[in-house]
Amino acid sequence: VASDLRVIVLASLVAVPSAFVFGSCILSCAPKPFELDEVVDKKDLERHLKDSAAEMNCERVCEIVQGSHHHEVTRLDSCELEIVSPEAVHVTCSGNSVFVHEGRRPFARLEHDRPWSPGTPLGATLAELAYLEAASVLAFTELADQLARLGAPAELRDRCLAAAEDERRHASLLGALARQHGVTPREPRAHDREPPPLVELARHNAVEGCVFESFAALLAVVRSLTAADETVRMAYGSIAEDELRHGQLAWDIHAWACAQLDARARASVHADRERAIATLPAHARALSSMPPALQRLRPDAAEQLAHEFASRIAAA
Ligand SMILES: [Fe+2]
Ligand SMILES: [Fe+2]
Repeated sequence: VASDLRVIVLASLVAVPSAFVFGSCILSCAPKPFELDEVVDKKDLERHLKDSAAEMNCERVCEIVQGSHHHEVTRLDSCELEIVSPEAVHVTCSGNSVFVHEGRRPFARLEHDRPWSPGTPLGATLAELAYLEAASVLAFTELADQLARLGAPAELRDRCLAAAEDERRHASLLGALARQHGVTPREPRAHDREPPPLVELARHNAVEGCVFESFAALLAVVRSLTAADETVRMAYGSIAEDELRHGQLAWDIHAWACAQLDARARASVHADRERAIATLPAHARALSSMPPALQRLRPDAAEQLAHEFASRIAAA
């Protein structure tokens, strides 16, 4: 990208601050330990409970009280609730929480995110993602081979092989998380096919690499910042770095391939890329329904983010 994918991703994120549940704490929303020991008015609690139609259990009370201090509970280690009078309850709880700015409360309630028992949608989603990472191992191995046949610079092929190694690591990282959540990922299989001519490789790379993998890099950054599950957030912290590199690799392969093609072939590559870019907002909206433990991205913000990103890569 004329071009630095990293710059495009960051510029898109900055353009849509509402993409983040934690809004203003994009750079520092790491959870911190908290300890709460408070006597609270039952009437105040009941107002919150009525709003959410939830019952008064210790976890819920702890969340409400932490929420009133602008903190969102991300992990609860202990919780005790005692009714001290008809008007008041005493709550003692501890765990981790993140600071959230007033007016920017999470749209997703954390209580739905835990506890994660085997077979929850999170496990299934992680297994699906692990499967896709494993499929990327195959894609990069195949791409390195195809580039070698087409006489591409060795540097591009080496970067593909390094990317395949990254993807292997992502697959095992997410696979382990999926199994922790009760689901074993499937193993992808690739069908043999004839090596494609340059123009086909360029079209495939423009769609799968320049658009979808680059957008996946952006989503990985979003997950590394917003996943309610701490281990998922950490996993995506390292995956995001790699994915930004992979997206950039796609753009570098694109530049090399386009330089070899005639005007007509280049036009077909660009047309494919434009069509893929046009599908991003709907694609992003669909992906926003993933479990909050994985990412907290509102559908409208996801779509807006995709628009920002699409306009930047279309201009690149
Ligand atoms: Fe990956
Ligand atoms: Fe990747």
